Amino acid sequence: MAVKDYDIRDLDLAEMGRGRIDWAAQEMPVLRQIAERFAREKPLEGVRIAACLHVTTETANLMRALKAGGAEVALCASNPLSTQDDVAASLVAHDGIPVYAIKGEDTKTYYAHLEATLAHEPHFTMDDGCDLVSLIHKERRDLLPGIFGGTEETTTGVIRLRAMAADKVLAYPVIAVNDAHTKHMFDNRYGTGQSTLDAIIRATNILLAGKTVVVAGYGWCGRGVASRARGMGAHVVVTEVNPLKALEATMDGYMVMPMLEAARVGDIFITVTGNINVLDAQHFAVMKDGAIICNSGHFNVEINIPALETAAREKRVGRPFIEQYTVEGGRSINLLAEGRLVNLAAAEGHPSAVMDMSFANQALSAEHMLKHKGQMEVGVYPVPEAIDQEIARLKLEAMGVRIDKLTPEQERYLASWQEGT
Ligand SMILES: NC(=O)c1ccc[n+]([C@@H]2O[C@H](COP(=O)([O-])OP(=O)(O)OC[C@H]3O[C@@H](n4cnc5c(N)ncnc54)[C@H](O)[C@@H]3O)[C@@H](O)[C@H]2O)c1
Repeated sequence: MAVKDYDIRDLDLAEMGRGRIDWAAQEMPVLRQIAERFAREKPLEGVRIAACLHVTTETANLMRALKAGGAEVALCASNPLSTQDDVAASLVAHDGIPVYAIKGEDTKTYYAHLEATLAHEPHFTMDDGCDLVSLIHKERRDLLPGIFGGTEETTTGVIRLRAMAADKVLAYPVIAVNDAHTKHMFDNRYGTGQSTLDAIIRATNILLAGKTVVVAGYGWCGRGVASRARGMGAHVVVTEVNPLKALEATMDGYMVMPMLEAARVGDIFITVTGNINVLDAQHFAVMKDGAIICNSGHFNVEINIPALETAAREKRVGRPFIEQYTVEGGRSINLLAEGRLVNLAAAEGHPSAVMDMSFANQALSAEHMLKHKGQMEVGVYPVPEAIDQEIARLKLEAMGVRIDKLTPEQERYLASWQEGT
């Protein structure tokens, strides 16, 4: 089958994209070092990689690094709203990478783009949300014999992969990049924390100080969002279903309560649970006039949008990325970015400095899997500890932060059990 070279919005945007990709590169010193080594050693020579990632400036730097390592890459978006069209154009025009992604593409086009990426017959998949892996297992099983491994970027994708492994349907080994410490402790927490608020501010231009922000889910992302909202002067309420996380949120100084209570007091609601219908009809029914609701979890199911549509008498676009629903009592509820990942739809996703580590994990995990091709059984694997530690070391070095080393005496002490009081 002839493979279409690319499908993007407009090649003329390429120059702007290149400038922004280069700008992001300055904040990605770890990935840059890996790319430089890849260019010398060509560890990925001849490997065809299909990547389904948010098409951002940071992803572009990962694509360049993989290509420098000798890989042939094809890229599609992992979310219909997260593509930066200028970045897609630059990757095609300047780096010769086939990209299939257009910001705002409909669901049909989104899947057509996944299929076009798979038409390159990959040996390796790089997913963010497990859509490529699912499609391969459902519709392109013919590709399975040629695929030796894959990586997964996000919490939701890892959950889906583990479910596939438990059902014994997963057909090749995948490394859960999300589970690396140098990924979720920084990307999910500081990246989602900052970029989610950035998106809310860009979309609405509201003042956060003095507002009540309700954060649903106190996982890695939720912790980041809550702490950054507090830093901007908001009163933060956390909702949880896990007693440990709820306890942690309480002791971190947040108000914790069920969503039905929070729904009455919140001005801004942010879901980051990875779960479904966390904001639902009963919550819309009691929200204040002017409430703002948005989601930073992976899929657009955390807010029950069909229920909001049903409850609404009227709907209009307030300003870009804001849909104003008028519900019972003439109250307005403002949905941002169609309930999709708000930080990627209404802002630019994570700052480059955190994606530096996430994507260093992606690049080194791909190299690791190629080195161990045929030796890893089917399953979901953690990023090897040595890779995680090395990325932390390189990041600290790049930031100019030095740390102590264990003395031989301290090493002996930590390894012994005889010494006590
Ligand atoms: N916006 C982004 O750029 C970005 C970045 C990383 C991860 N993600 C996505 O964000 C989501 C959360 O990721 P995470 O790493 O924080 O996961 P996590 O597992 O660390 O945290 C999720 C939390 O939500 C809680 N939760 C589940 N159902 C709930 C409910 N009904 N009400 C309240 N709390 C509930 C869980 O108990 C858990 O504490 C995932 O979908 C992930 O893929 C988004």
